[in-house]
Amino acid sequence: MGQGAGFGKSILFGEHFVVYGLPAIAAGISSKTIAIVSRKDSPGWTLDDSRPAMPGYKEKKLDEQKVSIDNVIRFCGIDLSEEGIHIELKGDLVCASGIGASAANCVALARALNDEYNLDFDDEKINEAGYEGEKGYHGTPSGIDNTASTFGGLVWFVRDLEGGPPTFERIKLDRPAYLVIASTGLTASTKEVVGDVRAKKEENPEWFDKISREYDEIVQDAKDALIDYDMNKVGKLMNRNHELLQEITVSCQELDRLVKIARENGAIGAKMTGTGRGGNMIALAPDRETQERIKEALEENGAAGAWIATFGL
Ligand code: MEV
Repeated sequence: MGQGAGFGKSILFGEHFVVYGLPAIAAGISSKTIAIVSRKDSPGWTLDDSRPAMPGYKEKKLDEQKVSIDNVIRFCGIDLSEEGIHIELKGDLVCASGIGASAANCVALARALNDEYNLDFDDEKINEAGYEGEKGYHGTPSGIDNTASTFGGLVWFVRDLEGGPPTFERIKLDRPAYLVIASTGLTASTKEVVGDVRAKKEENPEWFDKISREYDEIVQDAKDALIDYDMNKVGKLMNRNHELLQEITVSCQELDRLVKIARENGAIGAKMTGTGRGGNMIALAPDRETQERIKEALEENGAAGAWIATFGL
């Protein structure tokens, strides 16, 4: 029996823009998906997916998940034509769009296969396997989700548009920062939303370039503000990043509403996170008490789920 885990993540800055080679900042969260792999006599693979999830999430993602599992197994070079495997998925990461659940699934599976078949993969190789798995969910993943899921922590990430390895570096803070994550309960298809943004970009490249240039300034300032632990500035930049995501049409009423509630209840910044058009939003809190208050306010005002997390250490 082999076992492995993958972290969930929140994108603090740069979803969608990261696909086009702009930097992004993601925070790994401590909740994870665990994969357990055991060999069986019959060929192929079977799956028992008992991860906690938002209603409808697993059903909606099932076809993509199957492709992604095949991709990871192929990347790991495992031949299941005679002796197969049974895969069990569990853990405390609640699957919802925006929390990196698909990447956590891929990374956990790669680690479990590595364990069971003694593949001797280091983290770089696990990350590559995770990236192959992510392709099952959409054709052009930036790689940020699998990277955050493999390494955890706070990550500065830039995709190489030529297909080479991405640039990524760890950002360490002096103290932890307080985050609230809340779900709209709606599941979005990353493939569809990323495809739609691409179509809009191709239709009007000047419009997208102008927004991208502003985003680039935001993310560079955000990196400095995080390193200086200037959370008020980080929060303002998150708010502006949310507006840009509204402009490229990936936010939605439900996300905007939760963002507003978080701000009204003491968040120093709030934005949607991940794919958008449903999924999750994040709010930055100045301290633990406010973090708790924002979480409760979101729960009482229609969030399908709300969680607290810290990042930066
Ligand atoms: C999804 O979590 C983040 C996107 O930017 C897609 C990607 O980076 O592959 C929307």
